[in-house]
Amino acid sequence: LAQTAQSSPMTSVIRKKLMGFVGFSNLPNQVHRKSVRKGFQFTAMVVGESGLGKSTLINTLFNTTLYPPKEPLPPAADRPKTVAIESIGADIEENGVRLHLTVVDTPGFGDFVNNDDSWKPIVENIESRFDSYLEQENRVNRSKIVDNRVHACLYFIQPTGHSLKQIDIEFMRRLHTRVNLIPVIAKADTMTDEEIIEFKQRILADIEYHNIHIFQAPTYENEDEETLAEAAEIASKIPFAVVGSNQVVETPDGRQVRGRVYPWGVVEVDNEEHCDFVKLRQMLVRTYMEELREYTNDVLYENWRTEKLVSMGVIQDPAVFKETNPAARMQEERVLHEAKLAKMEAEMKMVFQQKVQEKEAKLKQSEEELYARHKEMKETLEKQRNELEEKKRRIEQGRPLTPDGKSGTGRKKGFLQRT
Ligand code: GTP
Repeated sequence: LAQTAQSSPMTSVIRKKLMGFVGFSNLPNQVHRKSVRKGFQFTAMVVGESGLGKSTLINTLFNTTLYPPKEPLPPAADRPKTVAIESIGADIEENGVRLHLTVVDTPGFGDFVNNDDSWKPIVENIESRFDSYLEQENRVNRSKIVDNRVHACLYFIQPTGHSLKQIDIEFMRRLHTRVNLIPVIAKADTMTDEEIIEFKQRILADIEYHNIHIFQAPTYENEDEETLAEAAEIASKIPFAVVGSNQVVETPDGRQVRGRVYPWGVVEVDNEEHCDFVKLRQMLVRTYMEELREYTNDVLYENWRTEKLVSMGVIQDPAVFKETNPAARMQEERVLHEAKLAKMEAEMKMVFQQKVQEKEAKLKQSEEELYARHKEMKETLEKQRNELEEKKRRIEQGRPLTPDGKSGTGRKKGFLQRT
């Protein structure tokens, strides 16, 4: 294990069979329990001209009377001159799971003679929700962040059968980078199946032409076939042709269904043969609510935050950016710490090398000194040996030595004599 870890610590995965039950397979249940305890927050926005069935559809989606019955619209002259933003919140519960649902309505959108700037208050509202989230993130105590960001925007298209109107295109172009757009064809029961197919094609062509990004069910690698098929089926229904109704009516064959009664029959809201309501609910609530929240947080909010900080000049001033972004600050601290460690290591290496060099120089010097002394001694010994040999030779030749031990020129009294 140690050897493998040393050779490539990041890439090697050792698959081992467990000898018995450990318990970490229970992690998804732990997450589930925690999420259920905390509950969920979801904010949906509805945009579209008045009378397109927005409130009815929301009530149908969440199977509740979130919207109370409405008063008829006042005469045009008495209506407000701007788009208003209204939110309704409700805590709903299903099988013990709590959802705090907020619906943001935009009455007045598209109802004026000049609708050029209808999108403006809506963008402002979405961005102010981002602002409030950012402000909460920057607080010292971040344990109680309330997420009021808009996670999905249902955009109601009038069932004209032509193509998108200028106001639709303008709205989607302005909003698609700020919110998950889900286009729906309102009151689809007013069109035939063929008309719906053609209308959808024209809408999609317009959306593509204007490079508008609409929310798509995400697919991941290694996803099972069933999930991929479900995502593809949902994608094939966009824009969803929906019918809304909270009325339970009786079908000719005696079933009780949510639907709308016509002289020619009953349009069933929950029947996939009649409309795309079921697929829309699957996208918005049953399968991809978490993905909508995640995309809002990871992509839409992050992009907005970056743009905002850049526009404030924060990127140009790393100190301020560091102050406002804890992740960047931690990253910088880590880099500084690593640099400090690397510097210390380099200094230690340098000191060590210096010490080694000094030691080597000393050893070399001692060696040289030893060698010099050895040479000197050798020379002295050689000299002494030569002198002794010279002495010996003289003695052997019977020649006297001078007092300093050198041979003299003649014989003198008291000097060594040959025997
Ligand atoms: P504002 O609040 O004025 O913006 O209207 P709204 O878009 O919320 O529409 P609302 O849900 O109040 O519906 C307006 C009318 O359309 C009501 O009479 C509904 O019964 C009717 N309606 C709602 N949904 C549908 C639908 O899918 N098909 C048909 N044919 N009528 C619908």
